[in-house]
Amino acid sequence: MQKKKAVFTFILMAAFALSLSMSFTAAAREWDLTLPSLKEAFEEYFPIGNILEPGEAADGRTAEMFIHHYNFVTAENAMKPANIARTPGDWDFSFHRLDFLVDWALENDINVVGHTLVWHSQSADWLTKNIDGTPLTRAEARDNMERYINTVAGHFAGRIYSWDVVNEAFLTSVGSLPITPADEGWWRHMLRTERGGNEASPWFAAYANGIDEAAGEHPSDYIYDAFVFARLADPNAILYYNDFNETSAGKREAMAQMTEELNARWLSDPRNDDPGRLLVEGIGMQAHYWTSDLSPVSVELTIMRFAETGARVSITELDIPMGRFGAFEEATEENLRKQANLYRDLFDVFIRHADSIERVTFWGKADHQSWRHQGSPLLFDSNFQVKDSFHQIVALAQWLSPSDAVSDNEPEYNEPDEEGEEIAPPELEIIPENDSGIPWVIIAIAAGVLMLIIGIILINVKKV
Ligand code: XIL
Repeated sequence: MQKKKAVFTFILMAAFALSLSMSFTAAAREWDLTLPSLKEAFEEYFPIGNILEPGEAADGRTAEMFIHHYNFVTAENAMKPANIARTPGDWDFSFHRLDFLVDWALENDINVVGHTLVWHSQSADWLTKNIDGTPLTRAEARDNMERYINTVAGHFAGRIYSWDVVNEAFLTSVGSLPITPADEGWWRHMLRTERGGNEASPWFAAYANGIDEAAGEHPSDYIYDAFVFARLADPNAILYYNDFNETSAGKREAMAQMTEELNARWLSDPRNDDPGRLLVEGIGMQAHYWTSDLSPVSVELTIMRFAETGARVSITELDIPMGRFGAFEEATEENLRKQANLYRDLFDVFIRHADSIERVTFWGKADHQSWRHQGSPLLFDSNFQVKDSFHQIVALAQWLSPSDAVSDNEPEYNEPDEEGEEIAPPELEIIPENDSGIPWVIIAIAAGVLMLIIGIILINVKKV
């Protein structure tokens, strides 16, 4: 009898310990909504965005966190051509999912970025290729593009703040610069074809098929067409060109010159009924950087060059994984510190150029959810816990703007001393809460005590 009782008590204690540890794990994997809001911290500079898929918007806690921190949303994958229209005419299901996301965003004062209409990757083959994989003719591809953009941009017209009309049209790396300023049209030769092991653009290939060079046609015309179709389908949306490796000198120049040339061409286009408005109105810097080779100076030069074109600039897909291309590194203490310093230096550049920057969007919420999760690239770790990077940028925003209203229940951030010492991360009391607002710890202890009482009752009932 004594032995049985001992076993029973042991099982009970084990259950208690298990329930406690499970509650702590669950608590650690929750978003902490008591943190300062990113969108409020940067309120006077630029809005802050992040990615969200329709399914995530339906998840209460994620949605609540998103509303707390962000005022711009981009669908990570759902609004790409491959997901919108696998086959011609197959729109309804995706529109239904996307309408949910877009309406949810607008109801919560979150602006929506349409990403993306014309891209070589995650596209739908029928837009640019025959069944056997050969390119459609220029005329066929153009018709499909017009139909696709009319249908998609038309469907969301009035609800999309800006469209990434064309994504990643240039070679991954543009290693040269125009020889002289008169080297007109240089950027056209830097567009994405299979050259140098690049993934080719099927739009470029189709626009080359059946081309009339004597009439001045060029395969690159697909970019201009895409912008014009988008303008006509949704005149309210701001139209962006979006690309990566944008801080390298060659690619930066190619993106800028293309923007300038397309905008000049639009001036004399008979379809232009608002000569004061640019066609390519924004340039998106994807900002997929690395801790090992990110240079805030080249980011700054890029913002300045893009602003010179007259277009707006947005940081559209920011993440800074640890390591370098092809070699992710662990989130060691040293790497975390390096990452936090880089985030701070970047936001210092962004804040100083806030007049040119329309928005800063992160490409991911917590590290484990990132497409580059191996390098822990974001402001929140894989347990949804805040990283030093977060503290550094929020502290910077508040330091640079001491007048910024910080509400009473937000933690106080230290200011640097006169010599401009490193900003110390603030002390934050992190008591995770669940939806009911009762701390998890209390719930865990209550559950354990309850189990203990039930166990004691059971033992006694058995005795009787
Ligand atoms: C990425 C998504 O994050 C991944 O989930 C997907 O598997 C591939 O695409 N440039 C872009 C984004 O414009 O659309 C890409 O998003 C990342 C690179």
